[in-house]
Amino acid sequence: MSEMTLKDAILQCVEVTGSLQIAYWLTEELIGYSSTEVVLDPGICLTTTQSAILSEAIDRIRGLEPLQYVIGKWSFRGIELACDRRALIPRPETEIVAEAAIDRVAEAAIDRTHGESLLVADLGTGSGAIALSIASEINQRYPEVDISVVATDISYDALELARENMELIARLQPKMTELISLRHGSWYEALPAEAKGRFSVIVSNPPYISRNQWNGLESTVKEHEPEIALVGGDSGIECYRHLIDGAPQWLMPNGCIVLEIDPSQAGIVADMAAVAGFQDIAVKEDLCGRPRVLIASGLGAWDRVPDC
Ligand SMILES: C[S@@+](CC[C@H](N)C(=O)[O-])C[C@H]1O[C@@H](n2cnc3c(N)ncnc32)[C@H](O)[C@@H]1O
Repeated sequence: MSEMTLKDAILQCVEVTGSLQIAYWLTEELIGYSSTEVVLDPGICLTTTQSAILSEAIDRIRGLEPLQYVIGKWSFRGIELACDRRALIPRPETEIVAEAAIDRVAEAAIDRTHGESLLVADLGTGSGAIALSIASEINQRYPEVDISVVATDISYDALELARENMELIARLQPKMTELISLRHGSWYEALPAEAKGRFSVIVSNPPYISRNQWNGLESTVKEHEPEIALVGGDSGIECYRHLIDGAPQWLMPNGCIVLEIDPSQAGIVADMAAVAGFQDIAVKEDLCGRPRVLIASGLGAWDRVPDC
């Protein structure tokens, strides 16, 4: 791709992506030319380094790698996150899950007893998207509130990316590194034992597709995003059972669990929450009106599973 002009680069990007808008986005993000510069000076020659960067990106897109991984970053609730194949690309529907969790954390922040720190868990944090947006937004809204967000994952790769994202955001909000702790382990096993019964909110976007669904997924997801982030077992609902059954031990009596769900799983996951003793169960819809978030609370002190 040596001796390539900006116009040639745009045309190659359009050829592989089928979209002028994406071509502009790629050239802006990868080699720093805005669409205005493309229009005003399309004949400008790219340097060898710029040509090589675009060439590599185009090859990766031809290989059906998601654009977010090729660009290496993605925005989630206004936060720019580093994004690569170590963790799932944060999805727009998960922004609604984060919003539901933030609303519940905000209520807990207003109700909290003075001096008590507010404890939140994001189980299966991936890139750190949910944990970082909770810590960042709550800290901006209620800087006086002492909040601690425990972000966990079974994947060391994901935790490494979440740490990089935490450090990235800490450049603008230095308190982030104090507010978030990253822990490795399977679901509740990653949490510190002394935090049992102290969480105000537990949030998770667990893997929830079945083995069969995974087999039928398009290559752009199946060959590039981590299987462990997507497959929730043979039926897809295995992680919900674990998360819901374990929640009463870890939540405060007025705490709540917020879970991303597939629309087809709303009924079954709500039933699981009822069986586990949650009395207030609500489902929040996404922007297309599909049930996407389960919010369960109302355990009451009498319903708590005793420590063993
Ligand atoms: C659907 S992804 C969600 C990632 C991120 N929270 C988001 O919403 O973009 C599920 C995450 O759960 C993690 N995970 C899978 N099994 C787990 C387990 N047993 N314990 C903890 N985390 C697990 C995966 O590594 C992955 O990061």
